[in-house]
Amino acid sequence: MFVRNKTLTLAASAALAAAALASGAARAEDVFKIGLIVPMTGGQASTGKQIDNAIKLYMQQNGDTVAGKKIQVILKDDAALPDNTKRLAQELIVNDKVNVIAGFGVTPAAFAAAPLATQGKIPEVVMAAGTSIITEKSPYIVRTSFTLPQSSTIIGDWAVKNGIKKVATLTSDYAPGNDALASFKERFTAGGGEIVEEVKVPLQNPDFAPFLQRMKDSKPDAMFVFVPAGQGGNFMKQYAERGLDKSGIKVIGPGDVTDDDLLNDMGDAVLGAVTAHMYSAAHPSAKNKEFVAAYKKAFNSRPGFMAVGGYDGIHLIYEALKKSGGKTDGDSLLAAMKGMAWESPRGPISIDPETRDIVQNIYIRKVEKVDGELYNVEFQTFEAVKDPGKAKK
Ligand code: PHB
Repeated sequence: MFVRNKTLTLAASAALAAAALASGAARAEDVFKIGLIVPMTGGQASTGKQIDNAIKLYMQQNGDTVAGKKIQVILKDDAALPDNTKRLAQELIVNDKVNVIAGFGVTPAAFAAAPLATQGKIPEVVMAAGTSIITEKSPYIVRTSFTLPQSSTIIGDWAVKNGIKKVATLTSDYAPGNDALASFKERFTAGGGEIVEEVKVPLQNPDFAPFLQRMKDSKPDAMFVFVPAGQGGNFMKQYAERGLDKSGIKVIGPGDVTDDDLLNDMGDAVLGAVTAHMYSAAHPSAKNKEFVAAYKKAFNSRPGFMAVGGYDGIHLIYEALKKSGGKTDGDSLLAAMKGMAWESPRGPISIDPETRDIVQNIYIRKVEKVDGELYNVEFQTFEAVKDPGKAKK
C-alpha cells in the first residue's frame, strides 16, 4: 500500500513537473517582450540606471502579468552611442521578436532606432531623450520624457519678468542643447533681454573650466545652462571652484542641471538656482511622496526626472496592452497609447493623440535646503504644456 502510493505520487509529480515545464517555457504568444535600450556605462550611465530602477520598481508594484501576458524586459546597454543603439534595436526586433523598444538615453539614440521602429511596425517608447523633433522621426514613436522647449521657453519668460537683463549661455553642443538655446533665446530676447556670451560645450567629457572664466568676465546677471542628466554635478563643482556663485551669477535653465539624482551632493553653490522642469523629487503630491519613498527604499537613492520618464513609460506600455485587450501588434498598441492620460509622480500627464508627445505641467523651482537636504522647490505651475517646438509648425 505504502509503496503503491509512493509510485502514484511519483508519477503524479512527474506529470506535474512536465506540465510546469511546458508552461515555464511559456508559449511564445503568452510572453510580451520589451527591448530596453539605455546607457548603463559611459557618461550617461546615470540615465540608464534611473530608468532600469524605475521599471523594476513599477513591475514589483504592479506584477509582471498584463492581459494574460508575461512581461519580459530585455535590457541592453548602448553606452549612448547611436551605432550601438541601431545594432541592438535590430537584434531585439529580428532575433528576440520584441513587441516594443524603449529607453533611449540621448537624442542620437532615439533617432537611430526610429527607422527600425517604422519598418518593424512596433512602438518606440522614448523615456529620456528631449529634442523636440524626435517624435516626427517615426509614426511609431511615443514619448514619456519631455522636450527642451517645454521648459526653456518658460524659463525665458520668467527671466524677463524677474529683472534679468543680461545672460550668458552654456549649452551642450548637440540637438537638445540647440533646442534649449533657441527656445530660451527667442523668448528672452523678445522680452528685451540680451545674450552677452554664448558657449557650446562638447557632449562627451566636457571640461567647463575654460568656458566658465569667459562667462565670469562677461558679467551677466545669470547664466542659462543646459547639460544632459548626469553632468550637473561636475558643472556645479567647476562653477563653485571658479567662484561664479560668489560673483552673483545666478544659474537658470531647464532642470537637467539640478537633477535630483545628483542635487544633494552639489553643495551650497547650487542654492538659489532657478529652473523650469517637469519633475522634482519635492513635488508635493501623495503619489510622488509614495514614489520617492518606495524608490529610496529599493535603491537607496533619490529618483530624478529620468526615473520618472521610465516609470511612466512602463506604465504606458502596461496600460496600452490592457486597453488593447492583449493585442500585441504595434498598430493596436499605438492606438491605445494615443490620448492616454494618467497621474504620474510628476503630476497629471497625457499623450497628445496628434503628435504622440507628452503633455505635462512645467514647474518653476528654486534650489533650497529642506530639512538639511537640497531640493528643487516648486513655486509656480504651468499646466498641460504641449511641446512649443511643434505648436509653431
Ligand atoms: C537628449 O539627448 O535628448 C537628452 C539627454 C539628457 C537630458 C536631456 C536631453 O537631460
